[in-house]
Amino acid sequence: MKSKKLLLGSILSISILAVSVSAADQKLIDAIEQPLAAAIIKKDLLKPMKKFNMPKGCISNDKDSIARGAFIFHNLNGKKAKGKLPKGLSKTQMKEGKTYKPGDKIPPKQYGNCVACHNIEGAKGAGNIGPDLTNYKQFFIDTKTRTHEYVYQKIADPRIDNENTHMTVNLTSGLFTEQEICDITAYIVSEKN
Ligand code: HEC
Repeated sequence: MKSKKLLLGSILSISILAVSVSAADQKLIDAIEQPLAAAIIKKDLLKPMKKFNMPKGCISNDKDSIARGAFIFHNLNGKKAKGKLPKGLSKTQMKEGKTYKPGDKIPPKQYGNCVACHNIEGAKGAGNIGPDLTNYKQFFIDTKTRTHEYVYQKIADPRIDNENTHMTVNLTSGLFTEQEICDITAYIVSEKN
């Protein structure tokens, strides 16, 4: 008996709602039916530019670190990544579709698309949108502005150096970890033969 009353009550209230939708309710319905595109896009926008401090011991002559940097620099696509994986990078880290914040344990895509824009020693089909990084140690790193910190920051968030840069943002975006930025930097500034 009680449930019958309840049912009747709810049918009644539903029909009342249906005929008299308040302005506030209508707004809500509109928002659900037509979600603001701006709100969706906002989620995909880059975070504001950020200045980073290069961690201690970031740049080394460690063979594995340089090998990881080279691997990331030269590979355009995680699935098609060529060559043997250097120590510290694993196939499972190359799974696509994972995003993570700096500090998180599992790094995702192990490629940086750097050769899409930059030439460097041994690059195959390098792009020329960015400066040629061949012989970087000799031509850049010895000058006053091209320090290890400069290179680290450039890769982490190039917007600090050039607000209108066309280069990818790698640390602020969470694409790579601090360690990976160190590896890539170590590779660029390393002596190559
Ligand atoms: C879409 C193109 C593009 C991609 C991809 C790209 N860069 Fe760049 N890069 C540039 C441009 C353009 C510049 C020149 C300065 C500027 O506009 O920011 C630059 C500048 C640099 C510099 C400074 C060189 C100097 O003047 O001393 C370094 C180092 C660098 N990029 C490294 C990288 C690394 C490492 C990657 C991959 C993680 C990468 N870039 C990916 C376009 C790109």
